[in-house]
Amino acid sequence: MLPPATDPGLVPNPSKLSRTAGAFTLDDTTTIRVTPGAAPAAALLRTLLAPATGLPLPLAPDGRIVLVLDPGLTGLGAEGYGLSVTGETVLLRAADAAGLRHGVQTIRQLLPVAALRSEPVRGVRWSVPGVEITDVPRYAWRGAMLDVARRFRPVSFLRRFTDLLALHKLNVLHLHMTDDQGWRMPVAAYPRLTEVAGVPHGGAYSREELRDLVAYAADRGVTVVPEIEMPGHARAALAAYPHLGNFPERRLDVWQGWGVSDTIFGVTDDVLVFCRTVLDEVMDLFPSPYIHVGGDECPTTEWHRSPTALRRVAEEGLDGPDALHGWFMEHIGNVVTARGRRPLGWTDTGRDLPESFAVVAWRDEEHGLAAASRGQPVIMAPHRSTYLDYPQSAHPDEPPGQPGDTVDLPTVYATEPAPAHWGAAAAARVLGTQAQLWTEYVPTEAHAEYLVFPRLCALADTAWSGGRDWPGFQARLHHHRTRLDALGVPSRPSAILRPERTTR
Ligand code: ACM
Repeated sequence: MLPPATDPGLVPNPSKLSRTAGAFTLDDTTTIRVTPGAAPAAALLRTLLAPATGLPLPLAPDGRIVLVLDPGLTGLGAEGYGLSVTGETVLLRAADAAGLRHGVQTIRQLLPVAALRSEPVRGVRWSVPGVEITDVPRYAWRGAMLDVARRFRPVSFLRRFTDLLALHKLNVLHLHMTDDQGWRMPVAAYPRLTEVAGVPHGGAYSREELRDLVAYAADRGVTVVPEIEMPGHARAALAAYPHLGNFPERRLDVWQGWGVSDTIFGVTDDVLVFCRTVLDEVMDLFPSPYIHVGGDECPTTEWHRSPTALRRVAEEGLDGPDALHGWFMEHIGNVVTARGRRPLGWTDTGRDLPESFAVVAWRDEEHGLAAASRGQPVIMAPHRSTYLDYPQSAHPDEPPGQPGDTVDLPTVYATEPAPAHWGAAAAARVLGTQAQLWTEYVPTEAHAEYLVFPRLCALADTAWSGGRDWPGFQARLHHHRTRLDALGVPSRPSAILRPERTTR
């Protein structure tokens, strides 16, 4: 099932594409002309094409690849672009650098698939078919969360993952850096976090590595959104600093099991100082306008039993220990908003996040609707269609994954960030959607990529262009898979070739 000859099989699908006559061929003499501000996009194109093509692609005033940054262009937003390819020129135009970067990825996908290889390729004519494209994303937040707390992954993998996000015009890498099983970011004031809590399942990043990753991602149009889990999913931190727990005399190990732990942060002034100090260092390293502070799966049994927590309930005039969750989130939310950033948290059943928060709605659609109806910005991440740690098929040879569900390719493709019945006001609160890769069942890098692809291609298509054409997506993906192959990404063929299923 190849795409029609006129369809270059782009993922995500451009908003408007027509094939035109001719093709532009890049060779050793090809040069790039840029308007002011467009040179970084030229550098990106050069960097992306160099390994396979070896083309120098220098800047020159008469270059026939023309990259135009023109803030006066209307109708494209920050991320849209226009691309015209003829036999004579490649003209890429955008109102913002972000749009130029996406256009560069489109040029890359339009080239022969060998252009994506990481080693020199000889004997290929590097031609881009004639096209007229106008392309604007449907949602501003298109991302993937990677859990590096359960399993540490080196920065080399994060860079490769970032490259794969950018190829699909995804613009958020949400890095889940702390949990019960590990703490991966160094904090100068609390060295034991990485000395003790960074050890199981891997290691920890250095500050320089994280700073470099942020810059690397920014060059590719990807914002790294950091996450520090509070007040639950905190056992690794408590193994390092027991006095931050509800029972300071207790000694814990970094958790070797999986699941939801009862062991959560205490509510003392020391804990609040810790949270502020950690978040200040996080915000020093990560310029992201959104800072994720967790908030999910926080049993309050320890707060019910702790005299210190009960004293805090009384001092603050709260309804009971359960209300400490909102009190805690409010406090850390204020640390984030004080620095002009927006706190981000996971929705949890029966617990609304404070008004200042944007919300990642991970349980069911209704949780997203509830937050959107309260006026909070929402990122849709419903587990039944965006959790890529669930197996992608029920086939007997499918490796074990998170138990409880199967999330197949059509299900991801059918993710609708703002379902039709929500109404315009709630729909307007939806920033976008993201996939999640929790890593309890993900022992290797290859397995991570096997789980992510091609399901992330489906999410990218839905988030960028609407996800309403399953047969068309299947046809494009059939070709796009050869790109994943060229990049050495393992992906499950049967996930693509499975029987037709009607979506929507
Ligand atoms: C989550 O899956 N606990 C956000």
